[in-house]
Order: sequence, then C-alpha cells, then structure tokens
Amino acid sequence: MPMLKPQQGLHPIETASVDELRALQLQRLRWSLNHAYTNSTFYRGHFDSHGVHPDELRSLEDLARFPFTAKQDLRDNYPFGMFAVPQSRVVRVHASSGTTGKPTVVGYSKNDIDTWAQAVARSIYAAGGRPGDKVHVSYGYGLFTGGLGAHYGAEALGCMVIPMSGGQTEKQVMLIRDFDPDVIMVTPSYMLNIVDELERQGADPRQLALRTGIFGAEPWTDSMRRELEARAGIDAVDIYGLSEVIGPGVAQECVESKDGPTVWEDWFYPEIIDPASGEVVPDGEEGELVFTSLTKEAMPVIRYRTRDLTRLLPGSARVMRRIGKITGRSDDMMIIRGVNVFPTQIEELLLDFAELSPHYQIELTRSGNLDNMAVKVELDRGSESVEVGQLGRKLQHRIKTMIGVSSAVDIGQPGSVERSQGKAKRIVDRRK
Ligand code: DLL
Repeated sequence: MPMLKPQQGLHPIETASVDELRALQLQRLRWSLNHAYTNSTFYRGHFDSHGVHPDELRSLEDLARFPFTAKQDLRDNYPFGMFAVPQSRVVRVHASSGTTGKPTVVGYSKNDIDTWAQAVARSIYAAGGRPGDKVHVSYGYGLFTGGLGAHYGAEALGCMVIPMSGGQTEKQVMLIRDFDPDVIMVTPSYMLNIVDELERQGADPRQLALRTGIFGAEPWTDSMRRELEARAGIDAVDIYGLSEVIGPGVAQECVESKDGPTVWEDWFYPEIIDPASGEVVPDGEEGELVFTSLTKEAMPVIRYRTRDLTRLLPGSARVMRRIGKITGRSDDMMIIRGVNVFPTQIEELLLDFAELSPHYQIELTRSGNLDNMAVKVELDRGSESVEVGQLGRKLQHRIKTMIGVSSAVDIGQPGSVERSQGKAKRIVDRRK
C-alpha cells in the first residue's frame, strides 16, 4: 500500500502505511487482551468460560475467537465491576442513563483521560479546527461523555473552550453572537434549534465567524448535513463515539472528504459482525459495529457490541478505515407490518419537502396485533399558509413508495414538534 503524504499537524500514524498500522494494532491488541485477562475478574472469567486465552492471539483475525462483551455485562457488574485497575487509579467515571433501571458506568485512568483528549483533539483537527480557534461546546456536561469529552479535546488542541453545555437556547445564541466561535460541537438536532433561535433573533447564521460544526451522539443523514451547512454557512462533519469505548472521538469524519467517520484505529479496533450469527463479515458489508480498546487501562472493552449498524470502508483522507454513516441502532429499528424502518429513512424523505421544517418525531401505537406509525412534522416558518391536507398526502405517498410502509402523517404549525436539547428522541412508543 502506498503511504499517504505526511501532512502538517497530523500524527505520523494517520499517514503511515497499512502494514505499519496493522503491526501497531497487533502489538497493542496483545497488550489489551493480556491486561483485561490479568487484571479484570470479569474478563478472566469470561475468557475462561469460553476456553480462550490471550496467548492464542497470533494475528488480528484471531480476535474472532474471543467472546463478545455486551451492555448487559456492564449492567451485571454495576457499578465498578468492569474495572481492570484499583479504584484508587480511576480518576473519572461517566455513566449513560439507560431507559430503565441503573445506568451503565465507565471509568478512566489518568492515561485514559489523556488518550481520550488526544482522540478528540485529533478529531477536531480532522474536522478543520485549529489551535487558537474558539470552540463552543453545547454537548451536555456531566455524566454524559459529550461535554467533558469535547472540552478536554479542544483544550488539548490548544483552542479556547466555551463550556456552554446543553439547554438555555437563548443564552447559547447570545454567547455565540457575542463570542464569535469558529467551531461548534453539538448534536445535529440541537444545532437545528440553535439555528432557528439565531434566525428568530434576527441574526443571519451565515454571517457569523462559525466555520465548522462537529455533530454526533445521534444518527443524522446527508440531507441533514446539507440543510445545516446551507442554513449556518458551515462545514458539518460527523463525530462518532460511545461511552463504553471512551466517549466522543472514536471516529471522526475528515472535512476534506466528508465521506464517513475515520475510525482512530490505533486506539479502537473495529469489526463488523452479522448481528444474528456473530460471525465477522468482510469490509464493505453492513452489520453491527464491534470495538476492542487497544490502550485503555481502567476499563478495557474486548469485542464490545455497539448495536450500531454500519459498514467498514477503506481509508481515504487517512490510512485508517472509515465507517459509513450509522443507519441507526438495532434498538431503534421499528418493524412496521414486517418492514424494517429506521428514523433516518424518514428524515431523508422529510428534508426533500421545502414546506416542512426538519424537526420530526415518530409515534408508534398498536391496534389489535398491528403496529401503526405516525410521523409528526411541522410547517417551516414562512409556509404557515400551505394546505396541509394535500402536503400530508404527498408525504404519505413518498413514505409508502420509498420505504414500503403506510404511515399516518400529522403536520403541525412551526414549533409544534418537541425540541431536543441534546440527543433527539425520535421515537415515541405508545404501544405498551
Ligand atoms: O453519544 C458519545 C458522543 C458524544 C459521541 C458526543 C459524539 C458526540 P453514548 O451516550 O454512550 O455516547 O451514546 C453512544 O450514540 O452507540 C450511537 O448509537 C450513538 N451515536 C454516537 N455518535 C453517533 C454518530 C455518546 N455520529 C451511542 N452517528 C452510539 C450516529 C451516533 N449515532
């Protein structure tokens, strides 16, 4: 494989040869499996009960012999049972709120916090951020990894951080207008709110210094990218991550190619599996994304099943492989009368209608044994007088022909769809 040209500001591994990258991964993978087996009661028991030992790893492909780890394992070992270092070496915990019951807890050593900051700094750079930039962070601060993850990364890159956190939309917008940030880090659904509020206050978002939006923590489509880029006059790029693996910054889309997030494979080893059989599928095929941490100390994850559905694609702007935009989580897949539907498919269609705003929610109800879907949308500002009956029928027809399901459509006035302050709630399930 030809080496990419080293570029200013990039870590040498980002432009190394594939062979160099694979050699580093194998060395780190050996370390990580041994570390997990030696220092985590959970992983020792897990490997032993599957009859595997870290010494059996001779090539990267041998990873497939090792058992998966799932969210349930974190729940079963709540709160600190997954740690592979003494609690005295854990300098931070985060947690993600499950829909029911106890949250899942993750822990970081000092080195893990540094790795994470480097991963996010590299991500911001790939997105087009540079040292000296002002970075407005609207991901929530607290147990969620978004705010603090973005914050440490922006500082590590040498940016001025504006730690706004989520919510207080009017104040967000005042600070954005007064402080003139170059970069904003926020969920794409909340960015829509921010843009709406800027416009409501009579500001033209395209006239601001804002140059780059680093959007993630929820699925979003290329149509949403075009919408946000046009309305805010920015480059909108995708950041991916999950708490169990480290937080934001597991993968980042490069601004020069905008072709799906590059996985920072020197720290996080990706596989795609068939979610039903658990078999590894070849690169390019769609399946469930699985990650193994290569350097994490406090809470290594070995073959962690993310539930996110995507594909692995060859490297483009960097040597590392990319993931396609996440179609959705297997948990978010709705099965409507036998047809699999993801909210992102609905998003794609909605954004084709100039009369509709990009805010939406999907409501599921049951009548007898049948599931019903209703899409709640609203008119865009300026389109209040549009005849909704006809527009609704048009949208219904599009959903039927493009996705193959019959759906009710409810078009409200501007502002009628619930707004997100962080991760958008796309599905309202009233079937229970
Ligand atoms: O959402 C970490 C994060 C914060 C990523 C800020 C990006 C920006 P969790 O709360 O553990 O962590 O949720 C992880 O969110 O498994 C995906 O289902 C979803 N997700 C995260 N980023 C993306 C993305 C953070 N870019 C879960 N596209 C993941 C689609 C995403 N889904």
